[in-house]
Amino acid sequence: MHPESYQEMSRMVTQYLPTRRPIHVLDVGSYAVNGSYKPLFTERGCHYTGLDQSPGPNVDVVLKDPYRFPFPRNSFDVLISGQAFEHIPRFWETWSEMVRVLKPGGWIFLIAPSRGVEHRYPVDCWRFYRDGFRALGEWKQLEIIEAETRWETIWGDCIGVFRKPARTWWKGLLGRWRKPSAESNPHGPVEAPANINPSTPRIRDAEYRDWYDRPISEWALHHQAIVLAFRASWLGIPTLKNPLDAWVMQEILHEVRPDIVVEIGGGAGGSALFFCTVLEGMAHGRVVSIEADGRHWKASHPRLTLIEADCADRSVIKQVQELCAGKRTLIVHDGDHTRSAVLRDLQAYAPLVSPGSYFVVEDGIVDVLDIPGFTGEGPLAAIRDFIRNHPEFEIDKSRERYLLTYNPSGYIRRRVSP
Ligand SMILES: C[S@@+](CC[C@H](N)C(=O)[O-])C[C@H]1O[C@@H](n2cnc3c(N)ncnc32)[C@H](O)[C@@H]1O
Repeated sequence: MHPESYQEMSRMVTQYLPTRRPIHVLDVGSYAVNGSYKPLFTERGCHYTGLDQSPGPNVDVVLKDPYRFPFPRNSFDVLISGQAFEHIPRFWETWSEMVRVLKPGGWIFLIAPSRGVEHRYPVDCWRFYRDGFRALGEWKQLEIIEAETRWETIWGDCIGVFRKPARTWWKGLLGRWRKPSAESNPHGPVEAPANINPSTPRIRDAEYRDWYDRPISEWALHHQAIVLAFRASWLGIPTLKNPLDAWVMQEILHEVRPDIVVEIGGGAGGSALFFCTVLEGMAHGRVVSIEADGRHWKASHPRLTLIEADCADRSVIKQVQELCAGKRTLIVHDGDHTRSAVLRDLQAYAPLVSPGSYFVVEDGIVDVLDIPGFTGEGPLAAIRDFIRNHPEFEIDKSRERYLLTYNPSGYIRRRVSP
């Protein structure tokens, strides 16, 4: 490192960072060739991590994949890099990773030469100018605080100061979305959300940038805690459903055309009324909702019957068996979400499901996300127990194609031929 670069980094640290805070700093390309920036940060009580593709002095973490940092998103308060970008063949991929691991509101201080003799460590690929740094900042929707070329220095250092926009909690509603290809089959297999490349979406509108730039888990947690608890209804009756799953149910009901839908766990009756509305549109089918605690029940519909009882009660199981005899039957489970109760109900009610129809197990999301109020194992664990011993059923993953589902692996279809 040349002295002017050290002085420039020192100036940026003093100008932009608060004094003496134990923030986390990642130095990209930290291998100490004639010195390092580390003292600038450790003197201020910061936690400094040096990252490089080669082991050596001042390197804490060695990259296995040069373009994949081994840190979760939003891990560091400050990212720095000096005299490294010119040596990185695909520096834009490194830049993507830097932005990914930077916390909202965090800073990037970048220095790279605009001129100078070839110096291969182990390669020398690029030189940079202020417009190039601006382009990098704009590409990742960063605030560009500085983008300058210091012509007076030996290497004509290009200096960049960038800031990742801070977020407000209420903007965190929607997850990432990948455009389906024209030839993709809507009923075909879906990729898990985890496979989405975080740098794929380009969010063009500034007002909605933070809104859409959120992981699907934040949408789910917000929806669960804020929207479902107070503000979700069907025709005025509280309904505890993710609207995307409700849409999937509409598609299933239309395709299966059941004579009878048995709902376990009716709540206030909003979901049962929703099923009735869809069946009404098809002019076919009835809904039987089993609800142990009818005090909150509000729904009524000519196609709807409420059984106010515990679904595990033998007499209730028998009553439902009789109602379903000879009928094309579909079951929805939204009752007690503990693993043992869901497995118990699967065992008691799954034999009623007709070939080609479904047993929909709701809310396995409690096994996936840390949702306040749920502890222990829930529906997803029960589904896995059940499916292991019931080859006549299969999990229809195509029903999870809208990506955000509260019913992971919960669309269980009875095979037409065993
Ligand atoms: C999540 S709420 C149902 C919400 C409703 N399906 C909706 O989407 O609006 C779960 C309901 O299951 C009921 N429940 C729990 N265990 C049950 C059981 N063993 N038999 C019948 N209902 C049960 C609870 O009383 C509660 O009303």
